[in-house]
Amino acid sequence: MYILGIESSCDETAASVVEDGTKILSSVIATQIAEHQLYGGVVPEIASRRHLENIQPVVSQALDEAGLTLAQIDGIAVTFAPGLIGALLVGVSYAKGLAMALGKPLIPVHHLAGHIAANYLAHPELKPPYLCVVASGGHSHIVEVKSYTAFSVVGRTRDDAAGECFDKCARVLGFPYPGGVHIDRAAQTGDPSFYTLPTPKVAGSPYDMSFSGLKTAVINMAHNAKQKGEAIIPEHLAAALQDKISSILTEKAMAAAEATGYRTIALAGGVSANSGVRSALQTACDQRGYQLYMPPLSLCGDNAAMIACQGFYTAQAGIFADESLNAVATLSLETSFPIG
Ligand code: KG4
Ligand code: ZN
Repeated sequence: MYILGIESSCDETAASVVEDGTKILSSVIATQIAEHQLYGGVVPEIASRRHLENIQPVVSQALDEAGLTLAQIDGIAVTFAPGLIGALLVGVSYAKGLAMALGKPLIPVHHLAGHIAANYLAHPELKPPYLCVVASGGHSHIVEVKSYTAFSVVGRTRDDAAGECFDKCARVLGFPYPGGVHIDRAAQTGDPSFYTLPTPKVAGSPYDMSFSGLKTAVINMAHNAKQKGEAIIPEHLAAALQDKISSILTEKAMAAAEATGYRTIALAGGVSANSGVRSALQTACDQRGYQLYMPPLSLCGDNAAMIACQGFYTAQAGIFADESLNAVATLSLETSFPIG
């Protein structure tokens, strides 16, 4: 079964063809990062316009590289939530148009379910149920993956997402958007104990997280140093931040695993590319005899192969959309389709 996946929730226009939920036949990504870098972050209006320009050529290229025509595609999977509304609408409208014109099934995919599914592409032996740490630019969750299409969020950030914290701190350290990868690189040569950062406290759920206090601490440190005419050492601060974020995500995931009894853990979302997060989780899982699955770096960030893969499992579960499908900016991963 060939699924065409379409992704346009943020600043990447992507299309991919995946066979039987496992084999990536093509994966094309048109990134807008260079343009948004001029503004230090994603400008929603620019993102929508670029998606409009890119979507048709990106889909054509994905089909060409897969060596398939539209007639050979069995279903069209599209990210419909969550994300920038104008950006999502481009992918949703294009996918709806294709599905209606061709008489093919339209499959609705939640962006975070897509990130989780990136693990199935790399590790076909991974099967629900298991526990997944999902950390991206907009979300930080600990998720019980009950089946390929049913999720329960057991822990979440109360404020900023881990990726947002990386990006905002990177900006104050002088790195370009998106800064997570630059923090990662700088941290390689930094000493994580040179600066002391606070450990955020979260009352209530033991699996909930907070990153805004950490962000404020880094920003204050950088500003205070500047006011005093002192130099901050970016490598050391990057290492301290990466260390702290890695240990927060790892500690919360291990606590949730212990409480729920899961011994299989996965990592997903853009932040899953972070070397500190990967090694902290790996060490903690090894110590406990847990099996850890992580996507390869090529599938950590936004792409459409993960959307096509999740689309395969969503279709297998009999979940389809029709011409009434709309883009939704904010939607819990727990919401089942059709929504409302
Ligand atoms: O999943 P994603 O590509 O887009 C969203 O759905 O948000 O995640 C993007 C986030 C950004 O905050 C980016 O800085 C972060 O993932 N990121 C990283 C790394 N690579 C990407 N953060 C830390 N270290 C990295 N190596
Ligand atoms: Zn994403």
